[in-house]
Amino acid sequence: MPIVPVDPAHPSAFRAAIAAAARQIASGELVAFPTETVYGLGADATNGEALARVFETKGRPRINPLIVHVESAKAARRLVQFNPLALKLAEAFWPGGLTLVLPKTAKCPVHDLASAGLPTLAIRVPAHPVAQALILSAGVPIAAPSANASGEPSPTRAAHVAESLGEALTILDAGPCNAGLESTVIGFDGRQAVLLRPGATAREDIETITGPLAVASDDESRPSSPGRLLRHYAPAAKLRLNAEAPRSGELYIAFGPTDVDDALQLSEAGSTREAAANLFALLREADKRGAKAVAVAPIPASGLGEAINDRLARAAAAQD
Ligand code: TXA
Ligand code: MG
Repeated sequence: MPIVPVDPAHPSAFRAAIAAAARQIASGELVAFPTETVYGLGADATNGEALARVFETKGRPRINPLIVHVESAKAARRLVQFNPLALKLAEAFWPGGLTLVLPKTAKCPVHDLASAGLPTLAIRVPAHPVAQALILSAGVPIAAPSANASGEPSPTRAAHVAESLGEALTILDAGPCNAGLESTVIGFDGRQAVLLRPGATAREDIETITGPLAVASDDESRPSSPGRLLRHYAPAAKLRLNAEAPRSGELYIAFGPTDVDDALQLSEAGSTREAAANLFALLREADKRGAKAVAVAPIPASGLGEAINDRLARAAAAQD
């Protein structure tokens, strides 16, 4: 079964599609589904064989753990041990684009493969109605990395998932993702919150609760968040960042008004939120246009600009 449209505005078709997908999850199959950040490749987090299929399908190294999605903070508390700061963050940002990395509880039913054998688990409560309905209907926590082949930009549309992972997979299609960037990942060093991956929830917003965040180092020999390896998010085209203008032969990705003909536009209005939602689709579009070289305009560091610049820097570094 390929792409299945799911629209909460058509309740009976919606329920039928969710129920069918939930049965697939419960029987150990994979289902790609939308979240408010990016599309995820979902599997029953308690089923080792299903999780093995996730790693296989993505071509993902098994040392890189997955995020587990649950319907509520209450459900999360069965799986991981919260500290007081983590509780405050969950209250402020869940459901939404924030992932917390916390120690597993003694009775945590999630299979070790999801956490790549680590004593901690990355957990998130997604806000998207399709993700919520799927988790509730499946009745199990759903492990879901972004639904792309390892090393590619994350999918923000159902069609991206089909292009990346093939049409044999069931893909629930609810249109483009709102945020367009993966969740922000926060871990803890004792009681100090640590930014492991900038993402859909802006650092400034998190810092209103945590105070200044420590930032995980990018030491590839000992990554604190194993997925933060530099080779990530790369399109095929060669990227040049912080470019005020394109050079000859370069396709231009603009941020704000531009005179450049045929430029792709992250955000005419100069909004980092809008740019985040467009980023991965535009990187894919550049590849589709057959661009060999792409110049990207400077993006401000504030708001979601931090996460956008992080993804762009990784994409460019992967090519050196
Ligand atoms: O928005 C998102 O987060 C999307 C949607 C589908 O929820 N998911 C996503 O998953 O981006 P993925 O697998 O592409 O990225 C998960 C990140 C990786 O950087 C991984 O290393 C990190 O979370 N992570 C997972 N478990 C961890 C753990 N126990 N300790 C440290 N980092 C962890
Ligand atoms: Mg990913």
